[in-house]
Amino acid sequence: MKINEVETHAFNDQRPGTSGLRKKVTVFQQQNYLENFVQSIFDSLDDYRGKTLVVGGDGRYYNRHAVQVILRMAAANGFGRVIVGRGGLLSTPAVSCLIRKFQAFGGIVLSASHNPAGPDGDFGIKYNTANGGPAPEKITEAIYSKSQQIQRYLTLACDDLDLDADGEQQLGDMKVEIIDPVADYTELMQNLFDFDRIRALLASGLFNMRFDAMHAVTGPYAREIFENRLGAAPNELLNVDPKEDFGGGHPDPNLVYAKDLVDILFGAQAPDFGAASDGDGDRNMILGRRCFVTPSDSLAVLAANAHLTPGYRQGLAGIARSMPTSQAADRVAERLGIELYETPTGWKFFGNLLDAGKATLCGEESFGTGSDHLREKDGLWAVLFWLNLLAVRKESVQTMLDAHWRSYGRNYYSRHDYEGVSADGAGQLIDTLRNDGPALQGKRYGDYEVAFCDDFAYTDPVDGSVSEKQGIRIGFTDGSRMVFRLSGTGTEGATLRLYLERYEPDPEHQSLDAQDALADLIRIADEIARIRHHTQRDAPTVIT
Ligand code: G1P
Ligand code: ZN
Repeated sequence: MKINEVETHAFNDQRPGTSGLRKKVTVFQQQNYLENFVQSIFDSLDDYRGKTLVVGGDGRYYNRHAVQVILRMAAANGFGRVIVGRGGLLSTPAVSCLIRKFQAFGGIVLSASHNPAGPDGDFGIKYNTANGGPAPEKITEAIYSKSQQIQRYLTLACDDLDLDADGEQQLGDMKVEIIDPVADYTELMQNLFDFDRIRALLASGLFNMRFDAMHAVTGPYAREIFENRLGAAPNELLNVDPKEDFGGGHPDPNLVYAKDLVDILFGAQAPDFGAASDGDGDRNMILGRRCFVTPSDSLAVLAANAHLTPGYRQGLAGIARSMPTSQAADRVAERLGIELYETPTGWKFFGNLLDAGKATLCGEESFGTGSDHLREKDGLWAVLFWLNLLAVRKESVQTMLDAHWRSYGRNYYSRHDYEGVSADGAGQLIDTLRNDGPALQGKRYGDYEVAFCDDFAYTDPVDGSVSEKQGIRIGFTDGSRMVFRLSGTGTEGATLRLYLERYEPDPEHQSLDAQDALADLIRIADEIARIRHHTQRDAPTVIT
């Protein structure tokens, strides 16, 4: 088959963000835009000739087209084999699982996570390395730099492949293997959790659950795991048919975008357990009957109870959390006598800690939890972890949470997002805090006194690399915190994120609504950062 060398010109907007390159579909549809980025990935890698690449995505609009483009380009660039999920589908955690299991050279994930899909929605592409995790900044910067010098890309002159039939096909000198997207991942889950016990819980007649796949990639995974292996009833699974536009929804499992599920769990005759995952299957939301578990609390509860599951019976090496995630897990780490690592936002920062065996569990406040079983966060893994704990402890979600808070204290926590605001205004807000923040030390706001204000910088304890400007932290003398940072995954204007946290050790005061418990801090945040002024908004777009 003939290899074509196609002349092209650089696009100046191909710098990967928090999680790969994310843009509007219409941006990706520009001639050569996708091809340029794929070639830039390959050009930034060494020694991949004859090796294996894993490719798949969350099934959104443009997924199939992108898979075909990547297959032709991988063949032309000399890969030996590409493993593709049937229909071009693979959840992000499944890509990580396959890279590790088949010792692939790397993988390409096609997803814009929870961002809306369809011709007017978003698309995304991300490169993962041989450990199964998102490429570290060194590589994403190399990709960007190649994308700025690109003059040609290589592709094969051939027709589209059939992505829907399992088995091996030949593409030039390269093999293409279409596999069941669900099987290997399911096997991994079965090794970590006590499926017999969970099955018994679901069959007991005393326990009802709802899992919402939000018309995204986890549908087929949920069917196989919850229905076929664990015996959940079909009506316990919602929206399990993946759609190219995610049914017009916004598959972000939080209180706002997974409202249908939240309504069920807070309604009459609510089930005992509810969970949802996002577009590409790496996020999770955990609900109990009339109860929402913040992702920060979820990490802490999983860590404190991990010894009750087969996969983590041996204990944890350490816990890692992103900086804006609440400090609830820190207290668990302290009691377990293990290390707690605080990293910048983005899963890629956990990779080195997991590879070095320093951390076993990781989590982000943004509905991401995971462990050393993979190098991505993992939505269904978190759901199964909770089910395993509920099956062992035979308590309700709320009872487990209450017990945890009584024992460790409660970290009231909330995130306020101001989406799609002016990039200039948001930039000014951050710049002002960066410059004037340190002078806030010692200043009093009602009951709160500022202990420090800094711009978070992280030195990776494994490779010594330094990441600066990762978010403004304002700490108060009682341990309360607020964090301001700009999103690195948005595709329109800027998104300002404000993270608020207050610690409450007294069980008598642990059952407030989080927004009420944080009301003073919310006011102080606006006073200090002049949020309304800089965003021109009276209120956040999303509160979680
Ligand atoms: C957001 C989350 C972050 C997560 C990332 C990818 O990034 O805040 O924790 O790792 O999505 O899912 P942000 O938009 O804040 O840069
Ligand atoms: Zn995601």
